[in-house]
Amino acid sequence: MKQFISVKDVRQPSELMKLAKMLKKQPFAHRHYGQNKTLGLLFFNPSLRTRMSTQKAALNLGMDVMVMNFNSDSWTIELANGTVMDQGTQEHIKEAAAVISQYCDIIGVRTFAGLKDVEDDYGETILKKFIEYASVPVISLESATLHPLQSLADWLTIDEHKAHSRPKVVLTWAPHPRALPQAVANSFVQWMQVADVDLTITFPTGMDLSPDFTKGCKVTNNQEEAFQNADFVYAKNWSSYSNYGQKATGHEDWIVTQYKMALTNNGKFMHCLPVRRNVVVSDDVLDKPMSIVIEQANNRTYAAQAVLLKMLGYEG
Ligand code: CP
Repeated sequence: MKQFISVKDVRQPSELMKLAKMLKKQPFAHRHYGQNKTLGLLFFNPSLRTRMSTQKAALNLGMDVMVMNFNSDSWTIELANGTVMDQGTQEHIKEAAAVISQYCDIIGVRTFAGLKDVEDDYGETILKKFIEYASVPVISLESATLHPLQSLADWLTIDEHKAHSRPKVVLTWAPHPRALPQAVANSFVQWMQVADVDLTITFPTGMDLSPDFTKGCKVTNNQEEAFQNADFVYAKNWSSYSNYGQKATGHEDWIVTQYKMALTNNGKFMHCLPVRRNVVVSDDVLDKPMSIVIEQANNRTYAAQAVLLKMLGYEG
């Protein structure tokens, strides 16, 4: 695998999920693959889970890891070609990516959407420039539009907890005080479309996702109708795609509660974390066994480990 920025980079996604499942049982079985190899994790945005789970995944494989927080620790990166760099930026991405490629065998990059310019965000400017100028494989640690490591872990979690084949999975928009990117939701939809699940997406009118992602999916603006008989409820806030980057107002009643979860088929509650308690989901859901968010976060390690192992040349 030369890059991992989308499910489209994976030849057999279900095999990758099964590899993650196998690695969860035997996390140290492939340590020789990472010997004398270095993973560089580059963060333009904050992270807890992605940073620590990907680091743990690399350590499980015997790799060394270097982490760089670009916004606090590095030079300010210039992206545009042909710029006279006499303003705030100090280092061009051409040199930065080329130099980092000499230190690292695989590079992971986290770069969120700015939510101001849809073409810039959906063009994945920073990630694509890293791929262009790096000479080693690049993994997305969440980009402007996608979060594939999260989605692979989500799929593994659903596979582990499903009580029957083709479970009903509901992706529900949930309230949040800030405008958030669409990356987790877009990516979850992409991966669920290749998984054997019955997916429904629900959001308030106006809080749509890009039709490029929702095309062919069941979509409803009636949250309670969507929750009927669901086996899994995945909550996530996102800002509007059509009103690009706009935050919703007046939809606080889209919070996931025990009352709504009672409409499901004894459904499990999922969220990528971090989650705003009693805004996105009530305590009486999050603190009950129906919530599988901690196991979901645990699975981030094995999702990352599967991707790294493939990039290190594992063919099994
Ligand atoms: N879910 C997730 O990506 O968490 P972090 O932002 O903490 O990495």
